[in-house]
Amino acid sequence: MNGAPLARYEATLQGLARKDRLRTLAPRAGLDFSSNDYLGLAASRRLGDAVAAAIARGTPVGATGSRLLRGNAPEHEALEADAAAFFGADRALYFGSGYIANFALLTALPQKGDLLILDQLAHASMHEGAQAGRAEFKLAAHNDVDAVEDAITRSRAEGGIGRVWIAFESLYSMDGDRAPMENLVALADRHEAFLIVDEAHATGVCGPDGRGLAAAFKGRDNIVALHTCGKALGASGALVTGPRTLCDYLVNRCRPFIYATAPSPLMAVAAREALAMLSDEPMRRVQLHERVAFAGRQLAERCGVVPSGSQIQPFFIGDVRRTVAVAAALQARGFDIRGIRPPTVPEGTSRLRISLTLNVDEADISAMVDALVEVLASA
Ligand SMILES: Cc1ncc(COP(=O)(O)O)c(C=O)c1O
Repeated sequence: MNGAPLARYEATLQGLARKDRLRTLAPRAGLDFSSNDYLGLAASRRLGDAVAAAIARGTPVGATGSRLLRGNAPEHEALEADAAAFFGADRALYFGSGYIANFALLTALPQKGDLLILDQLAHASMHEGAQAGRAEFKLAAHNDVDAVEDAITRSRAEGGIGRVWIAFESLYSMDGDRAPMENLVALADRHEAFLIVDEAHATGVCGPDGRGLAAAFKGRDNIVALHTCGKALGASGALVTGPRTLCDYLVNRCRPFIYATAPSPLMAVAAREALAMLSDEPMRRVQLHERVAFAGRQLAERCGVVPSGSQIQPFFIGDVRRTVAVAAALQARGFDIRGIRPPTVPEGTSRLRISLTLNVDEADISAMVDALVEVLASA
């Protein structure tokens, strides 16, 4: 093959490089200020031992098929039963990733003629699902309950009679702020709407026993939640929890669930053990919250940052080039902090995403803030 067929891809890559937006894969290095392993479970002894014991019992690595065929392993069912009990839901379904689960929910549940309103800062997987789905789809300004209500009122005035779906994150992955859950639930009640709540960054960290920010509304028949297993739970995959009818519907109509090999039974074992750890080891959550408070104080006093109050702390820089330079300088000093640029975040809001986990202690946090102060003075 001559070079021509690849030329346009090359041109795109060169264009990204010119704008400082080229992404490359790098080996992990430095102190962890970027992972989502908030509770330090990914490399924990207990999670590893649970998987090792499962292997010793003969649990297979591969699921061997779709859940609807031979792939339905007892480990998946055990995880889903525990997850339903833990999150106080009728039923739970285990997906291979949060990305797929969000895409699946938004393409399978809202129907033609329905109205889907999505927070504009919700995760890319929700945007993809909303675009690919059959419902009419509107974006609402971030965390703006009035904007959501306006979209509903406008649609009704234009003759829309379908069901309304409101999709959002409970704790935002790039801003670390929380959704106005109570107001959204009240709004949903006023309009007989469904809520799809992505708890990716709240699961394990927020709510009683780490059950998330939707835990206060458990058991309602108009809330579907997504709990990813690859962040605070230290494993991978995602649990969708909600009313039994909707979960049964997904088993019948959700193409990414039906036409995919089920996740590894070993990963189901890990996710199940992680759920047990949330209840058994509450100190992890307490320690994380202490570290979040400590970092918030340090960053506020020494860098003028407004603390997000969560384990995700954005440090806004704005300019793409400077964001990349500051992140690189911090990495060179041994701190794994990533610069987040458009299109992941809106234009002009490039930032460092400082993630706090139990993989660092207070001394590490102080050293990171020292480095940040120094780097900012020279970058
Ligand atoms: C808010 C949010 N939802 C969903 C996902 C996707 O989850 P997963 O990594 O399990 O595919 C992510 C991952 O970055 C996320 O941040």
